[in-house]
Amino acid sequence: MKHLMLLSTFLQLAGVVGSAEKLPRLKFTVKDAVGFHFPDPETHTTLFLELGTGSLYVGGRGLLYVLQFTESDVKTTQIPVTVNEKAKKTCLSKLNVPQSECENFITVIHKVNSSLLICGTNAGAPKCWLLVNGTELNDSTDSGLQVVPADISPPFPSQRVVSLSAEGSLYSALSAAGSFNGSLRRTYSHRKLLKNEDKWLQYPQFAGSALVPGNEKHKEEAYFFFSELNKTASVDEEPHRARIGRVCMVDEGVVRNAPLDSWTTFLKARVMCGVPSKPQQFNQLREAYVLTGERGTAGLLYGIFSNAWNTTVVCVYSIDQVNQVFQTSKLKGYSNTLPAQRPGTCLFKNATNSLPWKILGVIRDHPEMEDLIYPLGQRPLDLPTTDRYTRTVASSAQGVNEEVYSVLYLGTDSGKVLKVLHSSEEAFIISQYRLFRDEAAVTAMAIDHSTGHLYVGTSLEVRRIPLADCGRYGDTCRGCVLSRDPYCGWDLTNQKCSPIPRGHNASDGDFLQNLDNSNASICGNAADLQPQRTSPREVILDSDSPILLPCPVRSHHAVYTWEKDNCIKSYTCPVTGESCVLSSTEELPMDPGVFRCSALEDGFREEIVSYRLVFNSAPLWAPSAALAALCTALGSALM
Ligand SMILES: *[C@@H]1O[C@H](CO)[C@@H](O)[C@H](O)[C@H]1NC(C)=O
Ligand SMILES: *[C@@H]1O[C@H](CO)[C@@H](O)[C@H](O)[C@H]1NC(C)=O
Ligand SMILES: *[C@@H]1O[C@H](CO)[C@@H](O)[C@H](O)[C@H]1NC(C)=O
Ligand SMILES: *[C@@H]1O[C@H](CO)[C@@H](O)[C@H](O)[C@H]1NC(C)=O
Ligand SMILES: *[C@@H]1O[C@H](CO)[C@@H](O)[C@H](O)[C@H]1NC(C)=O
Ligand SMILES: *[C@@H]1O[C@H](CO)[C@@H](O)[C@H](O)[C@H]1NC(C)=O
Ligand SMILES: *[C@@H]1O[C@H](CO)[C@@H](O)[C@H](O)[C@H]1NC(C)=O
Ligand SMILES: *[C@@H]1O[C@H](CO)[C@@H](O)[C@H](O)[C@H]1NC(C)=O
Ligand SMILES: *[C@@H]1O[C@H](CO)[C@@H](O)[C@H](O)[C@H]1NC(C)=O
Repeated sequence: MKHLMLLSTFLQLAGVVGSAEKLPRLKFTVKDAVGFHFPDPETHTTLFLELGTGSLYVGGRGLLYVLQFTESDVKTTQIPVTVNEKAKKTCLSKLNVPQSECENFITVIHKVNSSLLICGTNAGAPKCWLLVNGTELNDSTDSGLQVVPADISPPFPSQRVVSLSAEGSLYSALSAAGSFNGSLRRTYSHRKLLKNEDKWLQYPQFAGSALVPGNEKHKEEAYFFFSELNKTASVDEEPHRARIGRVCMVDEGVVRNAPLDSWTTFLKARVMCGVPSKPQQFNQLREAYVLTGERGTAGLLYGIFSNAWNTTVVCVYSIDQVNQVFQTSKLKGYSNTLPAQRPGTCLFKNATNSLPWKILGVIRDHPEMEDLIYPLGQRPLDLPTTDRYTRTVASSAQGVNEEVYSVLYLGTDSGKVLKVLHSSEEAFIISQYRLFRDEAAVTAMAIDHSTGHLYVGTSLEVRRIPLADCGRYGDTCRGCVLSRDPYCGWDLTNQKCSPIPRGHNASDGDFLQNLDNSNASICGNAADLQPQRTSPREVILDSDSPILLPCPVRSHHAVYTWEKDNCIKSYTCPVTGESCVLSSTEELPMDPGVFRCSALEDGFREEIVSYRLVFNSAPLWAPSAALAALCTALGSALM
């Protein structure tokens, strides 16, 4: 402890930049998160989480990792998914791609009915398998279904695919690459296989998909999120457009017996993300996640968008508003009267008035909505733009007040994970996690609401954390309430910060929480709470040693100050990293005495740490004079 402060480097005391409330309030470095480190880096990974079981399938290069998570451990099985040697030879000698791509990268893992379908690039000649008995791969043709692997998996891993499995069918969206136009198809099903028309998608780059439940079962829709690129746009035009495309699950095409025909329910709309008064829009949709609404609440779409400079922002949309556009907008460029049955309406084929060929006649050339889709609040969420977001998932949690709140998780290109409370257009960053042994961009995320876990992957490792991580908010009511984490509340019975039990009844009144603003007055009147004194740690030094007194920072929304003895003046303590430091320099000498660091947040002052400075040899100056000098010097240097 004596050596605690004997740091020889002089710390630059940087000022606090920007608004502190916009930054994460808490920062956690978690060294012991349950997870798995890949034996070799996996440049492209595909995740499939079997909900409710703790089984995570990770597709890599020529390998399928099956990770079985338990509370404190993970059991790993590696299943080789080898590349076809002939395909690899052809790839290396004939195809114009980097050698490293001539391998079998797993790009699709999905459960279709009860079988796990796995598809890979297979060195430019895509192939699919079924996982049987948990560890054995069987050729997919054994399923008895017609399978065209090239419609399900891209030939190379850099070409992104987004897939969706629902009601025993697989839907696949392949991004455009080179001369390949991109596609959106029903690819693996006992039902009719359907495809898009080429002109519907303009060099699409897919970013996500979701099944959106309708008010009736047959009204379910599959949503696909993507960006389009106009390759013939002039240099001064923005070539990208962010899009939502949708099809009905009940779509059966036009001709009953045609082996493959077009969707008759496809529509698309442009999604805006930006501030309306500013010309700059974020037109590239990178990632999308739909948080399905619970009873009565509208679903939300969270999108990560970027602009030409790779700045990323998050825009949020109400699924109700998105539906509204698809149900009421005019079709772009179509001036005739619409057929009685509006294009895009989900109807069984046997329903009266259903004339799919007539509808296809309209949407073949006019699939686009004229109305644009704008984000909630008409602007991106107020989040720091210094981080580059790479992945997102979200969950909803019921607060103690029985209102439903959304929690957004954002992965960044530097391996951080932000946990954000999103309520009525406002974003509050509850915390920032660092989970990884080696820093790398977050490339995969999956969430399991039923078991309450978040899975985060990079090219090097996969880690899991609980959604309700209440133990990290300290052992006071104030710390718990100020966290504004919907999963946690101050448990009055056990006097600790605990997860809110499922189905908790607000009228029990046994948990304290305040999610709507940063105010812990429900814990008691701040003025009535006696600030606790810490017992000073003794630090013995030579009088000419440099002195650095660290004060650990917990809340990054608090203001930290140092105070000495009964010196009525206090000194601000600028935060650098995980602490703020009071330092002595030649110009700023310190003398023996007690130094106290305290944090002020929400009108309440809390003492964090204190030190008693003792010198080995008596100082050469008179203590009282030195004290006055210190107060002045500190004041002018640090205020
Ligand atoms: C799956 O396992 C069962 C029993 O464990 C075995 O009888 C069967 O042959 C296995 N199937 C395959 C395809 O290996
Ligand atoms: C897997 O393949 C083997 C050999 O082709 C076949 O006998 C077996 O029935 C297949 N298993 C399943 C579950 O399709
Ligand atoms: C899924 O199961 C349903 C009902 O058993 C069946 O009709 C359908 O053909 C199956 N789909 C696939 C892809 O096996
Ligand atoms: C790509 O789409 C265009 C029309 O937009 C079509 O003429 C062309 O044949 C398509 N290319 C391929 C490879 O399908
Ligand atoms: C692409 O941009 C060019 C130049 O502005 C324009 O003429 C063309 O209509 C655009 N294509 C589409 C499909 O919007
Ligand atoms: C933007 O990011 C992409 C991929 O992350 C990268 O390929 C590209 O070079 C970046 N562009 C700029 C301008 O930084
Ligand atoms: C249309 O077909 C669906 C199933 O394919 C069936 O549930 C529904 O009752 C049928 N409706 C009519 C009007 O025949
Ligand atoms: C909560 O408890 C009260 C009384 O204990 C009961 O009347 C009420 O129905 C409960 N509410 C819910 C949502 O279970
Ligand atoms: C917290 O809320 C209480 C009660 O609503 C209010 O009196 C108090 O001023 C608030 N404190 C702060 C710091 O806003």
